[in-house]
Parts: sequence; structure tokens; C-alpha cells
Amino acid sequence: MQKEFDFIMRNHFMTLEPTYKKEMRQQFAENHVVILDSLLPIPLQVALAAEAKNLMYEHGKRRDLTMKISGNTPRHYYSVGRDKVNEYGKLIPAFFHSETIREFLTYLNNDLPVHKVPYEAEEFIINRQGNIGDTHGWHWDDYTFALIWMVEAPKEGDGALIEFIPRTEWDKSDYDNCVTKVLEASDVSSMYVPENCCYFMKANTTLHRVTPLTGDSRRTVIVFTYASDEDYHSEITHESMEEIYPEDTRVV
Ligand SMILES: [Fe+2]
Repeated sequence: MQKEFDFIMRNHFMTLEPTYKKEMRQQFAENHVVILDSLLPIPLQVALAAEAKNLMYEHGKRRDLTMKISGNTPRHYYSVGRDKVNEYGKLIPAFFHSETIREFLTYLNNDLPVHKVPYEAEEFIINRQGNIGDTHGWHWDDYTFALIWMVEAPKEGDGALIEFIPRTEWDKSDYDNCVTKVLEASDVSSMYVPENCCYFMKANTTLHRVTPLTGDSRRTVIVFTYASDEDYHSEITHESMEEIYPEDTRVV
């Protein structure tokens, strides 16, 4: 499965225009986020979306929390944790473990290495905002990179937009005010990512959120996490993950 997946991906990347790849790399360097509209060939887009929707249908669980360490911001959504995706999914783990995809992400990152995250619980997760008001409040990620695959995009006008402020720092010495301090000092950018596209973000230095869903459509995503060289040399803690996914982060 993995070999086949990487073979397909290698051929696919060869079909992408060098000018397109260069443009994506430039955008990532400038904005610390880039939307990729053709990372996967169409048959894989269809299969990946089908797998994610099935897993959400079978294993989706409600998460309703307030994250103290991210300035008491809300989390309201359905989620399938890493272990269930790993046990019952095929394509999502193959995507995460794909060396070919990581090579492309490394290219986007100005040739600085993009590694698999060294913490299993964050490898891949499926999230869905499905009820009015569902949101993924302001936060920074623990690891450097997130790649978010858009399985179902909300209808335009139904909220659930990505808002972000790149080049910002999570002040872990001031959990209560870390978010508001940055919001007060910076302009917020907003973006809409269509279905079957993805975005790649420097998520540990980009404050980001998904705004509340306001209509009857839904937003379903697969979140893949990747790490930088620095992540491998830092002591990274996982308080948010332990709170949101207690069953996937239990130390055995
Ligand atoms: Fe995030």
C-alpha cells in the first residue's frame, strides 16, 4: 500500500509545473501558509475524502472544551483520534507516512527538512464542525507544521473560516493573556479553502483558529502534523492534546 501510494505520488509531482511549485514555495516563505489545490491526483482526493467521512461516521466523538493554556479559547467539534484512524484507515496513514509528500513539503519549506511528528497522538486526526457554533478556537500548535486536508468545506457564507496571524509567539508564561495580547497588537488574516484542497502552515508560530460555523453546512478536515529539525531538539509538551484526546495520549 505505502509503495503504491508513493509511486502514484512521485508520478503526480512530476506532472506539476515547476512555475506552480515555485510560486507555492514563495507564498509559503512570505505568508507561512499556502493553499495547495492539487497536492493529490483526483482519484486519491476522492478516496481520501471517502475514508475520512466513513471514519467520522463510525468513530466521531464530540469534544467540547475550553483550553486554559491557549487563553481559555473554545473547542467545539466532532473528532476521530489518531488511534482509530490508524486502526481502521488506510489512505490517511499512507499519506502521513509518505516520504514523497514529505519531500515536497521540504521543498516548500525552502529545503529545510519536514519530518514526521515524533508524537503518535498528533500524526493524523479527523475533525468536523457540524453544529451551528462549532469552532476551533485561537491557538498555536505544539509542532512546527500542520497540513490540513479539506474533506468538506463549509458553504461560503456559513462561517468556519480560517483566521491567522503569522510570525507570532505563544507566551507560555502567560496562558491567560497569550492570545489576547497578540490579537490586540496584530491584524488578522482570513482565508477560505475549498474542498479537496489543503493548506500547509507554520502552525507553531502562526496564531490560528477556525471561526464558528453559522449555517447548516459542515467543515470536515484531516489534520496532519509534521516536525522541524528544531522540534527534535526541543522539549515539547502536549497539554492540549492530553486534554482533548485523553484516550490517545495515555502513557502505557
Ligand atoms: Fe492548529
